[in-house]
Amino acid sequence: MASSSSSSVSAALLLCLLLAFHGVSCAAKAKHGSGSKKTHHSPPKPHAPSPLPAPPATIIPPPVATNGSSNSSSPGAGDEGWMDARATWYGAPNGAGPDDNGGACGFKDVNLPPFSAMTSCGNEPLFKDGKGCGSCYQIRCLSRMHPACSGVPETVIITDMNYYPVSRFHFDLSGTAFGAMAKDQRNDELRHAGIIDMQFKRVACQYPGLTVTFHVEHGSNPYYMAILVEYENGDGDVDQVDIMESTPDGSGEPTGQWVPMKESWGSIWRMDTRRPMHGPFSLRITNESGQTLVADQVIPADWEPNAIYSSIIQFD
Ligand SMILES: *[C@@H]1O[C@H](CO)[C@@H](O)[C@H](O)[C@H]1NC(C)=O
Ligand SMILES: *[C@@H]1O[C@H](CO)[C@@H](O)[C@H](O)[C@H]1NC(C)=O
Ligand SMILES: *[C@@H]1O[C@H](CO)[C@@H](O)[C@H](O)[C@H]1NC(C)=O
Repeated sequence: MASSSSSSVSAALLLCLLLAFHGVSCAAKAKHGSGSKKTHHSPPKPHAPSPLPAPPATIIPPPVATNGSSNSSSPGAGDEGWMDARATWYGAPNGAGPDDNGGACGFKDVNLPPFSAMTSCGNEPLFKDGKGCGSCYQIRCLSRMHPACSGVPETVIITDMNYYPVSRFHFDLSGTAFGAMAKDQRNDELRHAGIIDMQFKRVACQYPGLTVTFHVEHGSNPYYMAILVEYENGDGDVDQVDIMESTPDGSGEPTGQWVPMKESWGSIWRMDTRRPMHGPFSLRITNESGQTLVADQVIPADWEPNAIYSSIIQFD
């Protein structure tokens, strides 16, 4: 454990490292993803104090329909609600973005279902300091933007962050997602453009057949627990996570007290205590609409770090 005097220094150092690393892996430049070998580094160690400062007061509000006549900011409302953005791409041409198939949200194996490489970095109005992790967007580009564009909407999930936006809304897409906006057989041609104008709108996420899943992160222990929350239908991200321990007598009886977890980074929530925590643990998640779901004793008393615990809960 770092002393408090050095912790702000190490936090600043981590922030610098984070910025430097992401300048390589998820930056504005994206001409040819395959050109130079890019290295991706993991986000900061969960043990560290949150390296990102509190959200500044100037965060741009989340996207809503710009056209005043379309009254709905609700997802998927017909052909309305498209907003302008610019797209770049990074990583391998048919890859999922980062070399390690992770990203600043903490998701793993984003090349595999359900993400299936249809992933993107978002700049701050999309990433929202991690709150945007797991959000789903339809993206499209029209033939006036590039002749290879199909105009057909594709859905991507925010799994990473970009730090050097080229426009107010900037999707730094995986090579796969960028190419998916093209007409048949013209993916490579579109990727060759490197940077294009595009459109996007927020949509509800759908993970058919999947329930909300909790990944207890590597490094968790009885005094520190970090949990990645994945696969929420709807928002795709959660606004709050609360945890309930069991009583220390080993009976497995819940204490009856919900304790708020702290957003650590990306979609990872953490809890630090001075005394050991006792499982089984229940988790309560709250979505953007304020609806809560309880995963009753989803993490057993003999839990282990780096393990996945599936719930039976899911937002509608
Ligand atoms: C919204 O779109 C409608 C129809 O395309 C158009 O007539 C109207 O001027 C637009 N309003 C704004 C505020 O852009
Ligand atoms: C938006 O909806 C409200 C109530 O539903 C309505 O009063 C208002 O006129 C609508 N505005 C536009 C621009 O359609
Ligand atoms: C929040 O959860 C409720 C209940 O499952 C669901 O009806 C609602 O659509 C969700 N809200 C969002 C924004 O996803």
